[in-house]
Amino acid sequence: MDLPNNTPDLHQFDHIVFFTGAGLSAESGIPTYRGKGGIWETYRYEEHACQRAFDKDPEKVWDFHEIRREFISHCIPSEGHKVIAEIEKVKPLTTVITQNIDGLHQRAGSNRVVELHGSLWRIRCDKEGIVYESHKIPLTNRRCSCGAYLRPDIVWFEDPLKEEEIFKAIDAINQSDLFISVGTSAVVFPAAQLPLYAIQKNVPTIEINIEKTLMTSMYQYQIQGTASEVLRKLW
Ligand code: OAD
Repeated sequence: MDLPNNTPDLHQFDHIVFFTGAGLSAESGIPTYRGKGGIWETYRYEEHACQRAFDKDPEKVWDFHEIRREFISHCIPSEGHKVIAEIEKVKPLTTVITQNIDGLHQRAGSNRVVELHGSLWRIRCDKEGIVYESHKIPLTNRRCSCGAYLRPDIVWFEDPLKEEEIFKAIDAINQSDLFISVGTSAVVFPAAQLPLYAIQKNVPTIEINIEKTLMTSMYQYQIQGTASEVLRKLW
């Protein structure tokens, strides 16, 4: 796989924003959400990943998330995650805006990570308004000491994004000099609005994906290939 001739040299940029999706973590062995073998093919999100499903059957929703926590706990960051973390070491303003909930960017060493869709490794009690980190698998108790069910601190379907995370993402794009999408189908809004915002702000944009997406033609540069291979070649 060769990079297109006009590909910019990443070393010239100081504030790169990486906008990442499930395609990056696919290289750590985690299935993507859509397409063949995608998570939503096996588990209907209406029954496993929305507040309505949780209100109806919290045990079923927790079983699904426990399977994910267990599976992902055995996965390791991919070469692509590592390249992004390496770039931050040399260019400390590098920011990751991720839709992934697996925590692999942080495990690879990235520090500036905006988790747009939350994290599988945080739990919250909506009744008491508390959020905390938990890596225990399975959870000791699915209920809070107050009696209410705990829930994963994840933005499920139909949940709003957290305002604070949106502000952090927009702020990072406002200051960025390059925006790189990696392994996202960019069909889930409002997250998919972010590449459009970068384009509107005239930030140079690159898309890395194994296939064309609905937004491919909007990016200034398109690189077709796997995330790890392309990122390693770019850096
Ligand atoms: P998708 O599953 O929708 O898309 C994954 C994208 O990664 C596709 O465009 C693939 O072509 C691409 N891809 C697959 N393998 C790749 C590889 N090795 N290298 C590069 N690209 C690769 O996942 P997302 O776009 O992340 O939200 O989905 C967005 C959101 O939808 C997720 O955060 C999740 C889901 O519902 C919630 O759970 C709230």
